[in-house]
Amino acid sequence: VIGFGGYVDLINRTSVGGIVAAVTIFAMLTSPVSFLGRMIVFSENSRAAIGRIEEITSPEEEEYVEDGGEALGPGVLSFDHVRFSRGVSTILREITFKASPGEFIGITGRTGAGKTSLVNLITRYYEANSGTITLGGRNIKDISLSALRRSISIVPQEITLLSGTIRENILFGMEASDDRVREAARIASISDFVESLPLKYETPVGERGITLSGGQRQRVAIARAVIRNPKILILDDATSSVDPDTEITIFNNLKEALKGTIILMISLRASALSFADKVLILEEGELREESGGGEEDYVDRL
Ligand SMILES: Nc1ncnc2c1ncn2[C@@H]1O[C@H](COP(=O)(O)OP(=O)(O)OP(=O)(O)O)[C@@H](O)[C@H]1O
Ligand SMILES: [Mg+2]
Repeated sequence: VIGFGGYVDLINRTSVGGIVAAVTIFAMLTSPVSFLGRMIVFSENSRAAIGRIEEITSPEEEEYVEDGGEALGPGVLSFDHVRFSRGVSTILREITFKASPGEFIGITGRTGAGKTSLVNLITRYYEANSGTITLGGRNIKDISLSALRRSISIVPQEITLLSGTIRENILFGMEASDDRVREAARIASISDFVESLPLKYETPVGERGITLSGGQRQRVAIARAVIRNPKILILDDATSSVDPDTEITIFNNLKEALKGTIILMISLRASALSFADKVLILEEGELREESGGGEEDYVDRL
């Protein structure tokens, strides 16, 4: 009970840090099962808190402005001899590549090759052990985490939808006009489906709403990423449940709508990889090969 009061108080004052702290305190105070129960209460009752998250994460008002007031301009993403290990195992070694604004880069390789780890280094979810990663010529270690993460959208391998409406799931705490929500949905090729529902964007999903298919969930998550107009868009196997034709439509839309964005697409599908300007192939943590898109044999060899 005491924990809950503190929790609500934290939410009301809110910052992402506050929410994280509240969730962490909760995790410590309660058993895992009741923690889950509270999390559902949290997602149902705290829309306002989600609104507050927006103040911190939205690029809307302060176009990629860093805490110091510095703008995080467009620029090349560069990996230079990046090495990453966890414990005794080396997950990535000697990773070197560049990606320019507007480039659509495919990343492929067997399961466990290090694809997700590689993209997690870009958001500094993980820290490289050696080598440097730069964005627009600046070491990402010198960019504030909030500025860095505000400029990157990731569609993860495992999608989580909030218990809420489709609109809320696309906005994910940010504020944007209905037109922008519809436009993001169009780019993600989910607008036709949403508009066929009686409640359209107000349709509840999750616990108390309709159950979306895997491919529909992935497309809602893509719309969520796109509406943030990121400098870097990372798609981690984000269209694996979408049929290949729709997948290509989405890629074409992304390329057209996000002209100055670096798109990094992790995929195992030849049809998706053939869309990329360049494909990076990871084999056991090493970048074996870089090839132009359009070929398919590298997938056959996997
Ligand atoms: N936090 C971690 N601690 C220890 N090992 C990790 C951690 N994260 C990833 N690994 C290991 O690093 C290797 C690469 O994992 P990663 O998730 O990057 O692979 P992946 O290429 O994305 O695979 P998949 O195609 O299955 O998603 C795996 O052997 C994995 O077990
Ligand atoms: Mg992965």
